Amino acid sequence: MTAVVVAPGNAGIAQHAELRPVDPSSGEAVVALAREVGADLVVIGPEVPLVLGVADAVRAAGIACFGPSAAAARIEGSKAFAKDVMAAAGVRTAHSEIVDNPADLDAALDRFGPTWVVKDDGLAAGKGVVVTPDRSAARDHGAELLEQGHPVLLESFLDGPEVSLFCLVDGETVVPLLPAQDHKRVGDGDSGPNTGGMGAYTPLPWLPADAVEEIVRDVVAPVAAELVRRDAAFSGLLYAGLAMGAAGPAVVEFNCRFGDPETQAVLALLESPLGELLHATATGRLAEAPAPRWAEGAAVTVVLAAENYPARPRLGDVIGGAGETGPDEATVLHAGTALRDGALVSAGGRVLNVVGTGADLAAAREQAYARIGSIKLPGSHYRTDIGLGAVENRISLSSS
Ligand code: GLY
Repeated sequence: MTAVVVAPGNAGIAQHAELRPVDPSSGEAVVALAREVGADLVVIGPEVPLVLGVADAVRAAGIACFGPSAAAARIEGSKAFAKDVMAAAGVRTAHSEIVDNPADLDAALDRFGPTWVVKDDGLAAGKGVVVTPDRSAARDHGAELLEQGHPVLLESFLDGPEVSLFCLVDGETVVPLLPAQDHKRVGDGDSGPNTGGMGAYTPLPWLPADAVEEIVRDVVAPVAAELVRRDAAFSGLLYAGLAMGAAGPAVVEFNCRFGDPETQAVLALLESPLGELLHATATGRLAEAPAPRWAEGAAVTVVLAAENYPARPRLGDVIGGAGETGPDEATVLHAGTALRDGALVSAGGRVLNVVGTGADLAAAREQAYARIGSIKLPGSHYRTDIGLGAVENRISLSSS
């Protein structure tokens, strides 16, 4: 039997898979579910279970698992570890300092900026980051994090357009997927606070043809090799978030899982069976697997967010118009949704992703925006400029 079982899932994936109310952060619970359903492959999506070692528990039970060990997931879970690995691997990244005492914050801020980059030194789903030319805004964010007991990471600002490059990594074998670009600010024109990501597109028409090869050679492969050397070999998806500066790619962050919402666009163009690539990675056979095949053209994801996202999103509102999609229409993928008395309702800050594809970026955008306009959710909002800078040729490697 071929089946997909998901824990915990949402109202969208419930149409394709069996949902089980299992805590994905409990290794014991995930192993019990995998045994019960006789799973051939367990895919661990988010960073929290990976950092907690759920992949280790699944592998220890003798079940193939896509996702890094807790030791390797520290590349996302501990910024200090990531910086140390990058320094040892000779990979360019921002200069940084960790502040864990409020009395040290002002002096540390004086050693950075403008622009200031202030991050929560832990897992914060993108929302713990403030990038600002305003020192007092930087100070307020740092002070708030420290008050909550979170160490603060200050970083030098990296110039240049950003690229998200997702790579399947199996030890020292690195297979890049298509490069994508996220839009992290909540509002058009990159205005407002940072979010988990409001939209993305792929491929990147402004990125030189050899850039992916350069990023793999100079960034991802050295980091993968360094993790092997530290007895923390990576197996899963290594996400390099990069700034393409004048001196070449520099790392903004590494994540130990697929990125959201870039994945929705990247996988829309994947023609190879995803399960085979994940299984080959999980079983140490990525080097022998056929290279991923990609459709021509472009894909765009636009996120529909709940009222008041990213601050305190309003949840529980009924969503209309997200059902049936015609053959030439964009696909609607669910994020924060649930079913309540048979009605589809919002259950998270980022509610839906509308994924348009087309012969080029302009056509993909047109398809996505035609579909998102027909979805009704009170107070919801979305950016109208996802991928627009690339369509209008406003992005180049010398711009920021
Ligand atoms: N696209 C940002 C993230 O997934 O962390």
